[in-house]
Amino acid sequence: MDFRHIQYCDRKSDLDLQQLQALFNLGAFWAQNRNIEDLKIAIENSDPVISVWDGEKLIGFARATSDGIYRATIWDVIVHPAYQGFGIGRKLVETLISHPRLNRVERVYLTTTHQQQFYKRIGFEQNHTTTMILENSPSDPIRITRDRQLQPELAELNTANV
Ligand SMILES: CC(C)(COP(=O)(O)OP(=O)(O)OC[C@H]1O[C@@H](n2cnc3c(N)ncnc32)[C@H](O)[C@@H]1OP(=O)(O)O)[C@@H](O)C(=O)NCCC(=O)NCCS
Repeated sequence: MDFRHIQYCDRKSDLDLQQLQALFNLGAFWAQNRNIEDLKIAIENSDPVISVWDGEKLIGFARATSDGIYRATIWDVIVHPAYQGFGIGRKLVETLISHPRLNRVERVYLTTTHQQQFYKRIGFEQNHTTTMILENSPSDPIRITRDRQLQPELAELNTANV
């Protein structure tokens, strides 16, 4: 198959959130049934965001969050099942990590359940330091219970969100 016409894009404004939602539902077990409003928030707060296009059809996606210099994390890497195994995933991740927003970052993290071998081919190494997770629930968001230590304006913000 000839993939020379496949385009890699870093413009968030070009993203079609309906197509992104469908792509996740098709092939991303960790991103099932994400709603459009929340996807929009995730995209707004990510940089860079890379999408891959076969004409008008979205066939790949990856995004990162970063402080621009010390740390970055890659999220939501996916290639449409019909386009897997042709080097698109590699180029997608390489496009993401070579983006000016990421290419000076000291340490780039990602979590993966099944794709360690894929990321190893690109240069990532297994890291055995402990990862810790705080699970948060949108219906019961994290708040600080004892706010006496906070500056007054932060305490106000914290209680305003209750
Ligand atoms: C993981 C994924 C993005 C890879 O995309 P892809 O386009 O199929 O990968 P590529 O064709 O670019 O493969 C790049 C290299 O990794 C290797 N590779 C890809 N998937 C692999 C796997 N599961 N096991 C071992 N090697 C793999 C390829 O053989 C290739 O090696 P080469 O460069 O030496 O020839 C794609 O399979 C996918 O979207 N999977 C479902 C979603 C997912 O699991 N995303 C990752 C979440 S962390």
